[in-house]
Amino acid sequence: MTKTLLPSALAAAMAAALLGWAVPTHASQALATARNCMACHGVANKLVGPSLRDVASRYQGRADAASLLAEKIAKGSAGAWGSLPMPAQPQVSAAEATTLAQWILEQR
Ligand code: HEC
Repeated sequence: MTKTLLPSALAAAMAAALLGWAVPTHASQALATARNCMACHGVANKLVGPSLRDVASRYQGRADAASLLAEKIAKGSAGAWGSLPMPAQPQVSAAEATTLAQWILEQR
């Protein structure tokens, strides 16, 4: 799975870079790659952080999930999944954090 996902993710990130960071909302995996999220997260597999599918299923059905996760993405997170904290991600704008949170919640 990782073997087939990685090259397309890289290609998407390179395409996003060529487009000058104007990453469209539907290309959220490219945005996640460009913002370095995929260095620690897999869509389906745990890496340094939890898999994005695990995150989506944990927050499924919570009305405030998107805003809660957007805030965690920007400011970092500790203690929700294990002993490793997630550092704050200052390279991510508030709008991007919301886009990423909504995309993560769709990964089920
Ligand atoms: C240096 C590694 C690292 C990077 C880079 C990283 N994360 Fe994380 N992430 C983690 C770890 C570790 C956790 C678990 C933290 C915890 O237990 O509270 C986590 C947790 C999360 C959670 C779940 C938070 C919760 O409260 O359940 C989300 C959502 C998330 N990351 C999204 C992102 C996004 C989006 C990016 C890119 C902008 C990103 N992460 C970049 C390591 C990382």
